[in-house]
Amino acid sequence: MDKKVTVVGAGNVGATAAQRLAEKGLCDVVLVDIVEGVPQGKSLDLTQAAAIEKHDCNLTGTNGYEDTAGSDIVIITAGIPRKPGMSRDDLISTNAGIMKKVTEQVVKYSPDTTLIVVSNPLDAMCHVAYEVSGFPKNRVMGMAGVLDSARFRAFIAMELNVSIENTHAFVLGGHGDTMVPLPRFSTVAGIPITELMPKDRIDAIVDRTRNGGAEIVGLLKTGSAFYAPASSAVEMAKAILLDKKMILACAVYLEGEYGFKDLFIGVPAKLGKDGVEEVIEINLTDEEKAALKNSADAVEDLKRVLAKLK
Ligand code: NAI
Ligand code: 2OP
Repeated sequence: MDKKVTVVGAGNVGATAAQRLAEKGLCDVVLVDIVEGVPQGKSLDLTQAAAIEKHDCNLTGTNGYEDTAGSDIVIITAGIPRKPGMSRDDLISTNAGIMKKVTEQVVKYSPDTTLIVVSNPLDAMCHVAYEVSGFPKNRVMGMAGVLDSARFRAFIAMELNVSIENTHAFVLGGHGDTMVPLPRFSTVAGIPITELMPKDRIDAIVDRTRNGGAEIVGLLKTGSAFYAPASSAVEMAKAILLDKKMILACAVYLEGEYGFKDLFIGVPAKLGKDGVEEVIEINLTDEEKAALKNSADAVEDLKRVLAKLK
């Protein structure tokens, strides 16, 4: 394969992302973890599956970073996930330390790569990766909006009993309880859902989307969601690897767009070979603007926690 993607963290999200990347035939994959044997074992298992899944991607598992050299993209999933009763923000001090160490190693071996951050709390971890890497803003982004929008789409399809392929949805803001699902920009076959369901049903779906991660943590009890998160990270990687110019909700570094400065937060962005190629600014109502500001304030709070950890 002429493209190479490293996935750091060979746990639930990382290993599933490695599987999806390979089974879509997108790239060679290097899987990195601190636990000895796990990335090696999972990549060997995935290599054997290739005989049946019919792809020629090379998968390598390692506890070091030499094999990651020259990666086109690095997806960072290393860290601890939350357990019932924990918010994503409870993970900040542990995961900030992990993100710093991982980013330093990644940058040493792949100075020209593009980072897709997955570890939580997502928007704060993007700040750590951005600062530690010293990369330009187009080469650091976070995965959250694609997942939150996918959850919104799933609930719309379930509610209206329509194909999920007919749905489109946008969820902006930080990846937390303050995220901002936008019903006005969420459609079924191009028809806004505001035309298709009463307000109380939209409100219920918006609420379920905001709690989408917690709902799964409550069911799994030992960790958090990983199938949809892995699909979402791979969707972003695919848009970059194939230079698709795809507009996806991603956590990106804002320098004035939407009225925010020096802040990673979820907004629509165009992804292509240069990473974040454009931030798409849409006109929001006063209510939507206030919700986005509330979400940005929550990310600013996390930035203050990060500053104290330094
Ligand atoms: P997991 O526990 O299954 O996997 C995490 C892996 O990271 C483990 O295998 C662990 O050994 C590894 N790790 C820890 N420190 C490391 C280091 N210094 N270097 C390399 N590997 C290291 O957790 P899971 O479910 O895969 O979640 C990973 C992270 O992604 C969590 O922080 C979780 O909250 C976050 N997440 C974020 C989502 C989002 O929408 N942004 C969605 C789902 C998960
Ligand atoms: C999720 O939304 C835990 O952030 C993760 O499922």
